[in-house]
Amino acid sequence: MSFQHPSFGHIADNRIIIFDTTLRDGEQSPGFSMNLGEKLRMAHALAALGVDVIEAGFPAASEGDFESVKQIADNVDGPVICGLARSAPKDIEAAGKAIKGARRGRIHNFISTSPLHMKYKLRMEPERVLELIAFGNKESRRYTDDVEWSAEDGSRTEPDFLCRCVETAIANGATTINIPDTVGFATPDEMERIFTMLKERVPGADQVIFSTHNHNDLGLAVGNTLAAVEGGARQIECTINGIGERAGNAALEEVVMALRTRHDRYGMETGIETPRLLGMSRLLATITGFDVQPNKAIVGRNAFAHESGIHQDGILKHAGTYEIMTPESVGWTSTSLVLGKHSGRAAFRDKLKALGYEDLTEETIHAAFQRFKTLADHKKIVFDDDVRALVDDESRDHER
Ligand code: KIV
Ligand code: ZN
Repeated sequence: MSFQHPSFGHIADNRIIIFDTTLRDGEQSPGFSMNLGEKLRMAHALAALGVDVIEAGFPAASEGDFESVKQIADNVDGPVICGLARSAPKDIEAAGKAIKGARRGRIHNFISTSPLHMKYKLRMEPERVLELIAFGNKESRRYTDDVEWSAEDGSRTEPDFLCRCVETAIANGATTINIPDTVGFATPDEMERIFTMLKERVPGADQVIFSTHNHNDLGLAVGNTLAAVEGGARQIECTINGIGERAGNAALEEVVMALRTRHDRYGMETGIETPRLLGMSRLLATITGFDVQPNKAIVGRNAFAHESGIHQDGILKHAGTYEIMTPESVGWTSTSLVLGKHSGRAAFRDKLKALGYEDLTEETIHAAFQRFKTLADHKKIVFDDDVRALVDDESRDHER
């Protein structure tokens, strides 16, 4: 890509822009709203994490949202600060005013382009939608050179019309073109094809960044995001812990680690400080009061925990047998070998060593392991104190 982006200048072909929308789309999850102080705390942490763009809110939605975007724009250094707007003068004016204090500010204007949305939601003819796309982008450029345009419900838009919409947005000043899978309906191959088509067919496509924004209604948000990258998208819109409308958005920690772990396939780089991912996830959970599920990739408490004896034995011999990234690379201090009924002798011995039992006889270890197996049949997890108690009991019995 040879053009100069208004906020980023020259962007290397293999650089993915991470656009975090935790504070806008993420906050649209029922029960996840955040106050000004909480949003500022999140925004500072997102800047330290290394995201390239923070979508800080929808300034026309409420006075509170306007103030949050303004405060973040005025106080958070590093990322581009973005405000969302419909293709309406009041929305664009509010977004323009809210981002004014940012060193680099973006207006993200959007309108629906699918037949269903145009007919029932907007009640507009396609030609009117095209006029509003031209207006929204031209008007946004009065406030900033960094303008993003989104085709809401883009993945369900008729391809020829989508090409006309994108061409109109580019001709009127958009510098980033986002094609959302608003209702999480697309499949990965469809997503890839949309971007390939736009890049091939739309005049001016080589002068903008294409962006992907995927909802998780069918659990495909991360897969669709990666497929879009293969089709040429170079900006990924995502949220911490995958929060967002309904089933959520693509999870930032998952797309970033997929790109990093499968660098062999995608060859892409992000600016994310991955060891901060766990802390970021926990900060959001603390602020919103919603924990992630234990089996959540990357940041769930079981993401690097192994219970079965075969897996624990493998991990103790070579971590690569059952781990595709190191726990430290995403912020955990270590792998966790959880003792339960599936655990074997190798993990049990390892635990004894970790608890300081270095000089036990083979006989004691054997007997303690039998006791442990009996206990584990009745208890979901055997904790360190349980192990201490059963080894101490066994040693005492031996002395008698
Ligand atoms: O899902 C969506 O279509 C959106 C747009 C406003 C970008 O969130
Ligand atoms: Zn969305």
